[in-house]
Amino acid sequence: MKTSFLKIVLFVSVMLLGLSTPTVYAQNAKTPVKGSISLFPDQAKVTISKDIYGHFSEHLGACIYGGIWVGEKSPIPNTDGIRNDVVKALRDISIPNLRWPGGCFADTYHWKDGIGPKDKRPSIINTNWGGVTEDNSFGTHEFMRLCELLGCDAYINGNIGSGTVQEMSEWVEYLTSSNDSPMTKLRKANGRDKPWVVKYWAVGNETWGCGGNMTPEYYGDLFRQFSSFMHDFAGNTLNKIASGASDVDYNWTETMMKNPKSRQMMAGISLHNYTIMDNWSHKGSATQFGEKEWFTTIRKSLMMDELVSKHSAIMDKYDPQKRISLVVDEWGDWFDVEPGTNPGFLFQQNTMRDAMVAALNLNIFNNHADRVRMANIAQMINVLQSVILTKNEKMVLTPTYYVFKMYKVHQDATLIPLKLNCEKYIMGTDTIPSVSVSASKDKAGKTHITLANFDPNKAQEITCTVSAGTYSQVKGEILTAASINACNTFDKPNEIKTVPFSGASIKNNILTINVPSKSIVAIEIN
Ligand code: AHR
Repeated sequence: MKTSFLKIVLFVSVMLLGLSTPTVYAQNAKTPVKGSISLFPDQAKVTISKDIYGHFSEHLGACIYGGIWVGEKSPIPNTDGIRNDVVKALRDISIPNLRWPGGCFADTYHWKDGIGPKDKRPSIINTNWGGVTEDNSFGTHEFMRLCELLGCDAYINGNIGSGTVQEMSEWVEYLTSSNDSPMTKLRKANGRDKPWVVKYWAVGNETWGCGGNMTPEYYGDLFRQFSSFMHDFAGNTLNKIASGASDVDYNWTETMMKNPKSRQMMAGISLHNYTIMDNWSHKGSATQFGEKEWFTTIRKSLMMDELVSKHSAIMDKYDPQKRISLVVDEWGDWFDVEPGTNPGFLFQQNTMRDAMVAALNLNIFNNHADRVRMANIAQMINVLQSVILTKNEKMVLTPTYYVFKMYKVHQDATLIPLKLNCEKYIMGTDTIPSVSVSASKDKAGKTHITLANFDPNKAQEITCTVSAGTYSQVKGEILTAASINACNTFDKPNEIKTVPFSGASIKNNILTINVPSKSIVAIEIN
C-alpha cells in the first residue's frame, strides 16, 4: 500500500517536471534505460553467408536415431524413414547445410558399414557416446536423402583418425563421381544412379583430441596427404575444411595457416568453442539456475567475439584476401545432462538463456561475416543446444529454434556495419554490455536488425539512426518469457515462441525500439 502510494507520487512528480515519459512494459513495469545504434548502410559490402546458420547432426544419443531417423515402418509419419515433423520444422528455418556424421563419432566411422541392404550392415559400438550399439541403419544414402528433403547442402566430416586415405578417397568418389568406376558401380548397385553434390567436406574432427590427439604439425601433413586424394569430379567442387583449433589454441591456427600448401588446399579451417557455464566437471543445470548463472553463461558466450577476432587476425596475416573461411562448426551451450538420462547422450533442455546465447553468437558471426562464413550449432536435435527435442511421436521446438527462425532473414543478406552504445549489465565485479545487435540489408532492399537484451530486469530504449536512405515502415517479432529459465516441454510445448512486436516506431528516419528485459527482437524497416 505504502509502496504503491510512493510510486504514484514519484510518477506524478516526474510527469509534472516533464523529465521523461516512462514506458510501461507488460514484461517488466520498469523505466527503460537508453541506448543508441548508428547504422551505416552506405558502407555495407560483406555478404552474411547463409552457411552461418548451419547445423550439426552426430550419431550421438537421440540425434539421429529417434530425432531424425525412425525407419520406414515406424508409426511416426515419415518419408523414407525420416520424420516428417522434423523435416517440416527445419525447412521452416531454412537450414542451409548439415554436418554429419560427427563430431568424435566421425573419426570412428567407416562409411562402407552404412551402405547396402540394412540387414547386411554390421553393427558397431559407438565408443564415444555411451558405448551403445550402432546398427548403421542411417548411412550415406539416408543422410543424402535427408539433405534433399531439407533442401540443404551436405557437409560431410571424413575420418582421418582411424580411417585410411583410400577410404576417404573412395567415399568422395562414391558420392560425387559419374565416371564408370568400382565406387560408382557400388553406388548404382545400392540404388542411386546419379552422383550427389557434396559442397563441404571436413578432413577430420578435433584432431587435437578425440580425432587422434595430434600435434598441428602432424595433422597438417595428414591434411595435405588426405586432401591430395579427394578429387573434384565433374559437377562437384569439394570445399575442404581443415580440422582447426579448440578455443584459444591460436598456435593451431598459426601452424595450419602458415603452410602455403595447406592454405592452397583448404577452403576453410574450423574452430570449436562451447559455452561452459562453470567448468567441464560441473557444467551446471540447463534449467535450474538463477540470475548469476544466466549472467555468467552470457558473459562466457561473449568470448566467441574475442575468439573469432583473434583467429581471424592470424588468418589475415597469411590470407589477407580472406579467401579461407573460419568455420565455427561446433558452438553452443553445454550443460549437465537432464537428470535420469544417459550421461553419454548429452541430452539437455533449452531455455530462454539458450535463446540469448544463440542470438548473441549469431550476431557475433554476422558481424564477423568477412571471415566467418560457416557455423554449425551443436547439435540439431536432442543433443546439447538443440533446436528440436523429440520424445517418441512428440516434437518440441526450443527457444533456440525460434532464434534461428527470427534470424533467417540475415542469410545471404549484406551486413550493415553499426555502432552500438548501450548500458552495462553488471553482476558483482563483472560487467557486460546489456545489448547485442547485428543488421543486414536483404536482396529485396529491406533492412533487418536483430537485438538481444540480456538484462533480465531492465528494458532498453534504443534509438537507431540510419545514415542513408529513407525509412517509413517498421515491423517486428519478439521472443521473451516470464522467467529466465522458461522452456518448452513435451507437456507444454508452446510456453515460449515468437509473437508480433509492437514496441518499435519510426519517425523522421529515427527508429525507436523498446526492447523489453530478457528478450530478443527482430525488426524490419523499409
Ligand atoms: O558435440 C559433441 C562433441 O563435442 C563432438 O562430438 C566433438 O567434436 C566435440 O568435442
